[in-house]
Amino acid sequence: MLEIIVAATFIGTYSGQLRGTGASKSSNTAISKKFLSYASLPSMTPLSTHSKHFLSDKVEHFTESVIRDMTRQAMQYGAVNLAQGFPDFSAPAEIKRAAQEAIASDVNQYAITWGSKNLRNAIARQMKEWQGIEVDPEREIVVCCGSTEAMVATLLAVCNKGDEVVVFEPFYENYGPDAILSGAKPRFVSLRPPQSSSDNQGGEWTFDEQELREAFQHKTTQYQTKAIILNTPNNPTGKVFTLKELELIRDLCVEYNVLAITDEIYEHILYEGSKHISIASLDGMRDRTITINGLSKSYSVTGWRVGWAVAPPAITNAIRKVHDFLTVGAPAPLQEAGAAALSLPASYYTELAERYRTRRDHLIPALEKAGFRCYRPRGAYYVMTDISNFGFANDVEFASFLVKEIGIACVPGSSFYKHPKDGSQQVRFAFCKKPETLDEAARRLEKLQSRA
Ligand SMILES: Cc1ncc(COP(=O)(O)O)c(C=O)c1O
Repeated sequence: MLEIIVAATFIGTYSGQLRGTGASKSSNTAISKKFLSYASLPSMTPLSTHSKHFLSDKVEHFTESVIRDMTRQAMQYGAVNLAQGFPDFSAPAEIKRAAQEAIASDVNQYAITWGSKNLRNAIARQMKEWQGIEVDPEREIVVCCGSTEAMVATLLAVCNKGDEVVVFEPFYENYGPDAILSGAKPRFVSLRPPQSSSDNQGGEWTFDEQELREAFQHKTTQYQTKAIILNTPNNPTGKVFTLKELELIRDLCVEYNVLAITDEIYEHILYEGSKHISIASLDGMRDRTITINGLSKSYSVTGWRVGWAVAPPAITNAIRKVHDFLTVGAPAPLQEAGAAALSLPASYYTELAERYRTRRDHLIPALEKAGFRCYRPRGAYYVMTDISNFGFANDVEFASFLVKEIGIACVPGSSFYKHPKDGSQQVRFAFCKKPETLDEAARRLEKLQSRA
C-alpha cells in the first residue's frame, strides 16, 4: 500500500512537471522508473498508518487530475495526445523574442506582486478595445500564475464556509476542487447536449432556466449562493454563451445579489461568426463580476503561467492579498512578454481562430467516420463526442482501449461531471495540435472504424 501511494504521488508530480516540455518518451520512462525505485525504498515512513491524521479533509474530496493522467498514459503507450489542451506547435516568434529580451535586460527579480505596470496597462487597453469595458490598471487587475491561480485566488478571496458556487456542467475540472479549497460547495446546473449534432450548423448546448433559477434559490438558511462560475467560450463543450443567456444570468445575479466569476481564457478562439461577450459589459454587472483570462491559450504559451483577474477595487484588493501569500507574483520577464503579446495586431487573432477552425474541420470528419457523434464546438479547441456507437460500458474503459489499442489519448467525459454516469458515454478530444499530429490521429482512427 505504501509503495502504491508514494509512487502515485511521484508520478503525479512528475507528470505535472512534464506539461508541454516535449521530453522524449525514453527519457520519461527512465525518469518514472527512477521515481518508482525511490518509491519502494524500505526506509520510508509508512504513510498509510497515519495518513488520515496528516492529510487535509479537503483533499479527500478530489482526485488527481484525469486530464494530466491521460497525458501520462499517452507517453506510456506512445499515443497521439489529444487529451490535454496544450499546443504542440511553436508560440509566436515576436513574443518569444520579447521574453528573451526581458531576461537579457535583467527583468529577473520579483515584479510588483499584483503585476507589472506594462502588462496591467496592456490588459486594460485590451478590455476596452475588445469588450468596451473601462478598467483601472492600478486598482482593478491582479496578475497571477496562470488563470488557474486567478480562479482559486478569487474563490479564496470571496467565499466563506456555507457559500455555494453555481457551476455549469460539464465543467472544466478545476472548478470543483477550487470551490472546495475555498470552503464553498459547488452547485451544478446541467448543460444539455444538442439533439442534432453532426450537421454543419451544429446544435447548441442549452440549459434549463428553471434549473438555473433553483440553483440561486435556497430553501434553508444553511447555504447561500455567493457566485456563479461561467466559462465562455466553454471547455469542454465549445459552447459560446449568447447575449440572451448572459442577460438571464445577469438578472439572476442581480436579483439574488450574486457574483459572476467568468473564465474567458478562450475569448479569441471562435468559429462561424460566434461573438464572445464578457458578462462584465452588461448593465448591472460591472460591480459584481470578476473576469479571468491569461496568456496560455491566446498565445500558445501554457507553460509560461501568466494569467489575471479583473474585478472592482474592493474585490481586487482581497484577491491581491490572497495572491501575495500564495505565490508572491507571476514570472517577471514573461509578464513583459505578455505586454508585447497583448499588443499584437487584430489580424493575429483572426488568423489564430482561422487556424483552429481548419484543425477542427480536420479532426471532426475523421472522428465521425470512425463512429463518434461529434458536438461541433462554436469556440475553444475541444470537441466533445458521444461514444455510444462503440458499445463500451463506460468512458473510462473506452479511453483506456483508445490509448492502448488505437494509440490516441482522449479525456473520459465523466471527469467533467459530478456524477460519473452523466459523462459515461462521452469523451473529449483537443485539436490544438499540428496538422501532422491530426493526420496521424486520423490514420489511427481508421483502425477503429471496423469496431463501430
Ligand atoms: C477553461 C479553462 N480555464 C483555465 C485553464 C488553465 O489556464 P492557465 O494555463 O491560464 O492556468 C484551462 C486549461 O485548459 C481551461 O480550459
